[in-house]
Amino acid sequence: MNIRVLHNKRIVLGVTGGVAAYKAAFLASRLTQAGAIVDVVMTEAATRFVAPLTFQAVTRRAVHTDIFALSPDSEPDARAGELQIPHITLAKSANLLLIAPATGNTLAKLAHGLADNLLTAIALATSAPLLIAPAMESEMWAHPATQANVATLVERGATLVGPAAGHLASGAEGVGRMSEPEEILEMARVVLGQKGDLAGRRMVVSAGGTREAIDPVRFISNRSSGKMGFALALAARDRGAHVTLVTAPTALPNPVGVDTVQVESAAEMRDAILSASDGADALVMAAAVADYRPGEVAEQKIKKTDGALTLRLTHTPDILAEVARLRELGRGPKVTVGFAAETEDLLTNAREKLQYKRLDLIAANDVSAADAGFAVDTNRVTLLSADGTAEALPLMSKEEVAHTIWDRVSSLIQE
Ligand SMILES: Cc1cc2nc3c(=O)[nH]c(=O)nc-3n(C[C@H](O)[C@H](O)[C@H](O)COP(=O)(O)O)c2cc1C
Repeated sequence: MNIRVLHNKRIVLGVTGGVAAYKAAFLASRLTQAGAIVDVVMTEAATRFVAPLTFQAVTRRAVHTDIFALSPDSEPDARAGELQIPHITLAKSANLLLIAPATGNTLAKLAHGLADNLLTAIALATSAPLLIAPAMESEMWAHPATQANVATLVERGATLVGPAAGHLASGAEGVGRMSEPEEILEMARVVLGQKGDLAGRRMVVSAGGTREAIDPVRFISNRSSGKMGFALALAARDRGAHVTLVTAPTALPNPVGVDTVQVESAAEMRDAILSASDGADALVMAAAVADYRPGEVAEQKIKKTDGALTLRLTHTPDILAEVARLRELGRGPKVTVGFAAETEDLLTNAREKLQYKRLDLIAANDVSAADAGFAVDTNRVTLLSADGTAEALPLMSKEEVAHTIWDRVSSLIQE
């Protein structure tokens, strides 16, 4: 299990001389809160925008600014009185080199291999992956020199986050704004997870409750919040998988680093899932797909009358039955996992669904409990396998449940 991908990871956070340096303080704080060990390295220009003390306070670690400042070696295997050379020590210890904000100037230095300050020397000396969040005026970003430098860096394996479009420090609107710290943090998770145990795997996850239209303004839906499906998508992403998330409407933001397909109805979900799961390693169906939809969708809003209104419901497509047929043809996902949300006879109903839908694994979920199922951050599930085994998991966060499911899926794929 790999619950917290940032925990105890050593991140060298390079901060360069742009106005967005103030946002880097928030990023450093969020990374530290997520359990990362953050060593901030500032260029001389960056120290003109934000004081190193701010970063020292939020990371509770020394901030490095000077390539020539050798410091006493505190490593346990160091000989008495030995000194550390900062760019070598930081380059070796880093799991990730994250530069946010990255100025046009620093991008140019990185692309050309210059090492005239501590940050650029670390970039040259490290084998850690490089994640860069550029920030500059639109003209500087659009300049062919900057574009060529960025292309060179990406070609060498660097990952880019942003820049976003919006309000710039000059007061203008355009492309060049540093991505928000939360998005950068998510990309750090993606980059750190790239060599995880699910690297190279292609996973499909469904989430949310479908909406079945009654008329142009009304629909039938259910209480699914999408939280379990989104947790599954993020957990697989953090372990290096390529993830397609097919989701019915939810209040959750699109996850960074995941291919998200937005759908509304069960019929749309069917189409998106069948096309995404063709040849995938696994499909995990955490969506609450409507079993019934109105037989006819009224073209105009149905008017209120004195009499009762009767809706005739018909079946929606059975997505898992169609997935099972695809698998018989040698297409479809290698492993299929379902969820059984029940309010009574949980295990009997779940086992029936496992067999009837020809699943490899089902997570049986008593949605009548206040701390499990819909809309909460925790879940209590029993995992039933096609081979007849049952494992009742204790109350866990949805993130932990997700990782446990991926552990099981990973073994099933290898079988
Ligand atoms: C007020 C002000 C704001 C600046 N903002 C940016 C910026 O957002 N992006 C950028 O690339 N350069 C910006 N610059 C220019 C850089 O600070 C300058 O190119 C500097 O040499 C960058 O050094 P560094 O890359 O070593 O940090 C700004 C300069 C000033 C005076």
